Order: sequence, then C-alpha cells, then structure tokens
Amino acid sequence: MRMKILVTGGAGFIGSNFIRYVLKKHPDYEIVNLDALTYAGNLDNLRDAEEQAGSGPVSRYRFIKGDIGDAALVSRILADGIEAIVNFAAESHVDRSIDNAGVFIRTNVLGTQVLLEAALRLRVQRFIQISTDEVYGSLGATGKFVETTPLSPNSPYSASKASADLLARSYFETFNLPVIITRCSNNYGPFQFPEKLIPLFITNALSDQSLPLYGDGLNVRDWIHVEDHCCAIDLVLRHGRAGEVYNIGGNCEMTNREITRTILQELGKPETLIRFVKDRPGHDRRYAIDCSKLCQELGWAQKYDFKTGMHNTVTWYLDNREWWARVKSGEYMEFYKRWYGDR
Ligand code: NAD
Ligand code: DAU
Repeated sequence: MRMKILVTGGAGFIGSNFIRYVLKKHPDYEIVNLDALTYAGNLDNLRDAEEQAGSGPVSRYRFIKGDIGDAALVSRILADGIEAIVNFAAESHVDRSIDNAGVFIRTNVLGTQVLLEAALRLRVQRFIQISTDEVYGSLGATGKFVETTPLSPNSPYSASKASADLLARSYFETFNLPVIITRCSNNYGPFQFPEKLIPLFITNALSDQSLPLYGDGLNVRDWIHVEDHCCAIDLVLRHGRAGEVYNIGGNCEMTNREITRTILQELGKPETLIRFVKDRPGHDRRYAIDCSKLCQELGWAQKYDFKTGMHNTVTWYLDNREWWARVKSGEYMEFYKRWYGDR
C-alpha cells in the first residue's frame, strides 16, 4: 500500500535515520521532509537516502526548508496529498533547555499545535507524535515506566514535550484526529549530534579531550539503537491504534559511568580522560521503559544488542570524522564553552 508521509525534523538524528529506514523498507512510500535546519539539522545526514530515492519528478523524497510553526507553509504541504505526519521536529537537548527555554516552547509546543491544527483541517489520516520517556519524570531504584504512568516532567525540555503530548491527546479526544504518541528512551547510533552523551564522549575521547561526567555518574538511562526505534515507529505508523500511547525502550539500563567505560575501552583510551563535573540541575536519576504493549500488540522485537550496537556506533564515528568535525564548530562550540566552562 503506497503512502505519502510528511516527516518533520527529518534532517536531525532520528528523523534522518527514519527516512533512510522507510525509503529502503517501503519502495512505494513517498516522503516530504520539512526541517528548519537549526544547528541540529544537517542535510549531509541524508545524502545516501536522496540517492536511493532517485531524482526529478520520479523521486520518492523531497526536502523543504521551513518551520513547523509556519501555518501557511504547513497547510500548503499537507494539501499536496499528505496522508500521514510523523513529527520529529523539536529542540531535543535537555542542557540547552536549561540554558534557554524559549525556543523549546515555540517549536515543541506551539509548532506541534500548528501541525495538529493543519492536520485536522486537511484531514490527515495518521499523526504520529514522537515523544520521549522523559515526560514521565524520574524513577527510584526499581520499577519501569508504563503508558499510564502519570506525566511528571522535570526539565523545560521534558515539560515542552509533555505539553505537546497533552495537545496531541486533546486533538484526538476533542476532534477525533487519529493521533498516536510514541515515548522512547535514549537513542544512540550514527548521525547523532555530538552534544548528546555518547557521541560527545566518543568524539572528545578521539580528540584526547576530557569527558565531563555529571554528578556521581550513576544516573541510569535505558539505551536503544536508533534503527530499532525507527522500526518501532514504522510499525506504529502502519498498525498502531489511534488515540493510544506506545512506549519504546531498549531493555538496556546502564549508568553513565558504564557507558563512559565502554566508550574508552572501545577506543583504547585511558580512564584519566573522565572529569567529574557539577551536576545538571534537575537531573533525572533513572529511566526504564516497559514496552510490552508495543511487543505484544505490534510484534516489535529489538535487532541490536548493546555491545554490537555500540561497537558499530563507535566505528561509525571513527569512519566519519569529517562529519562530526564539521558540526562540532561555530555556534555549538560557543554553547559548549558557556555550558561546560564553569562546571
Ligand atoms: P535532533 O535535535 O537531532 O533533530 C531535531 C531536528 O528538528 C533537526 O533537524 C532540526 O533542524 C529540526 N527542527 C528543530 N526545530 C524545528 C522547527 N521549528 N521546524 C522544523 N524543524 C525543526 O533530535 P533527535 O534526537 O533526532 O530527536 C527527534 C525527536 O525524537 C524529538 O522530538 C525528540 O524529542 C524525540 N526523542 C529523542 C530521543 C533521543 O534519544 N534523541 C529519544 C526519544 C525521543
Ligand atoms: O530519554 C530520552 C531522551 O534522551 C530524549 O528525549 C532527549 O531528546 C535526549 O537528548 C536524551 O536526553 P538525556 O538528557 O537523557 O540525554 P543526554 O545525552 O543529554 O544525557 C544522557 C545522560 O548523560 C544523562 O544522565 C546526563 C549525562 N551527561 C550528559 C552530557 C551531555 C553527562 O554526564 N555529561 C554530559 O556532558
């Protein structure tokens, strides 16, 4: 069955991996990628996907530079036969939301509302809101997040994502817009912007720079390879039930210290590179996801174990030094100096 999908934020980490995944898996799908190309958006992430999709009028892929908050632009795009929206577009970095929250509200909350409204008016048949496990807040030593866990966001980033979830839910309840929300745990893999823990520490270690570990380094995250996340979203898009929430997780709880040691071992670098720094304010202690609903209802299963996934990821950063050296510059380095300078 052919489908024409609007992917927003498709030039970022997960969005670009999703576009590559869908173009390969579904030869009859068409994708329009709407992305504002913020510091995190990079068309280099999609060069191979563009080639795969062909060029000219027969191409199954089209890029449009623009903001999801631009109602007129979004309506024009949807009017051109879009059947489904997968909304990845967001400000995604917790530390930046502590540094400056305004743009998180503009994109993650107001931008999502613009998309929902346009989807309603133009009768889009499927709206997948890509959310995060961070909306649930922090866990103690035991237990896992389930889809009915109350929302308790602790950072401006997670508060903006929780707000978007509530808006998405309201468009289903009030207007019957076929919305589905996915909440995934921490992703890793190729093309992740090197501000996030794993690519930051890989690229710093490759440059023999220190690895700034927050607090005691014992915060726990549940890691999933980005391709497994993309596979889950594809299943939700095709078979998920409207109005539902689906958790997505990696069954892989690790402390930040364990992650750091894995990276240093993979690269043969010394532990003396680790620098314990002042903690992130409001730092959630532990995340763990129960994704049995996704497995039982939609038949999702993970392909990557953490060891293989991390080995492939470290190798990817070793092989793509040019890619990360280019993005680890300019505005990002100004943020880096400001954020880590006094820690
Ligand atoms: P990213 O920062 O790598 O990419 C975000 C993309 O959105 C960029 O290409 C950027 O240019 C684009 N964008 C930002 N503002 C925009 C706007 N106003 N209009 C159009 N495009 C805009 O983020 P990511 O890590 O790929 O995350 C993608 C989505 O998945 C986000 O919604 C995030 O909340 C969610 N998520 C991420 C993770 C993770 O571990 N990275 C886990 C769970 C959920
Ligand atoms: O859980 C899903 C979320 O995962 C997504 O919604 C977010 O978009 C994504 O950024 C990620 O959020 P985290 O805050 O968990 O990811 P980050 O890579 O920033 O941090 C992971 C852990 O590592 C966290 O406990 C903080 C710690 N950390 C991070 C950085 C950048 C450090 O100790 N030092 C660092 O320099």
